[in-house]
Amino acid sequence: DKRLRVAVLGCGAVGSQVVRLLTEQRDDLAARVGGPVDLVGVAVRRLDAPRDVEVPEGLLTTDASGLVARDDVDVVVEVIGGIEPARSLILSALDNGASVVTANKALLAEDGPTLFEAAAKAERDLYYEAAVAGAIPIVRPLRESLAGDKVTRVLGIVNGTTNFILDKMDTAGSGFSEALEEAQELGYAEADPTADVEGFDAAAKAAILASLAFHSRVTASDVYREGISEVTAADVASARDMGAVVKLLAICELRPGPNGDQVAARVHPAMIPRSHPLASVREAYNAVFVESEAAGQLMFYGPGAGGSPTASAVLGDLVTVARNRLAGTRGAGESAYADRAVQPMGET
Ligand code: HSE
Repeated sequence: DKRLRVAVLGCGAVGSQVVRLLTEQRDDLAARVGGPVDLVGVAVRRLDAPRDVEVPEGLLTTDASGLVARDDVDVVVEVIGGIEPARSLILSALDNGASVVTANKALLAEDGPTLFEAAAKAERDLYYEAAVAGAIPIVRPLRESLAGDKVTRVLGIVNGTTNFILDKMDTAGSGFSEALEEAQELGYAEADPTADVEGFDAAAKAAILASLAFHSRVTASDVYREGISEVTAADVASARDMGAVVKLLAICELRPGPNGDQVAARVHPAMIPRSHPLASVREAYNAVFVESEAAGQLMFYGPGAGGSPTASAVLGDLVTVARNRLAGTRGAGESAYADRAVQPMGET
């Protein structure tokens, strides 16, 4: 059977755009993949909630566990976010023989290895390009394209909401709350914007990036974290006077330690000279710099948040899963983790 049957868990900012793209691009996707990609169910919390897309009749359900337990589902797209019930749903999907595409950075940063092991055991795919920096391809480049090189440093703006806020404070003189509200209206912010503002979202992404870049196991709790809630209009103005701009940076490094290289990851506001390429990352855009031994410096730039850009990354993963399935194969999977030491949080 060439049909790829897709179940989507969650129909919020990202889920609704996944449903839209699957519906609108159905014919193109089928042609690209070599077989139809069919939406077979969408799990939501409330059937009558307002949403940005019309879900074809009969596909909506409030029974997410029932949906992942169906034996006619080939791939589950998890865009609910948060730890539970997302983790249990992903694990039962894999256990039930489905592949998984997820955008869940919090879960990957807390418990990624459990998911990777479950996918390996089930011999199914687990892809998560959408978990870091929205539409920007960065997970695959680190996991695959650069896997033969030695990455030494990853430096990035990986949270759209805080970049949007800092940018509005810098360019429009907006107040913090006004800019945050605007970011929420545009669908950039997390359900609880504390995750954005206090740097938890960026720390989760830093943990995922550090794990991929350094073939190590870094969790969100290993990442030193400081958000932007203490950044004042006066800080932004004085940075401007000095020819600089304030950005929330995620910094992941390999540092020489007593027993070999150690991984260190941190998230905090930083002043960047206006001449630096990262200073020109505006609104909810993200950028990730990668430094590696053989390639030198690379920069990945693009829309880092929002329903449609994030859905673009989800659809890319779905196409890959569909192609793998037709070829009777699985994707690259994670690195066999090196026993690389992770520097305790806060040590600099
Ligand atoms: N709330 C996140 C952000 C969404 O603002 O970047 C993308 O992960």
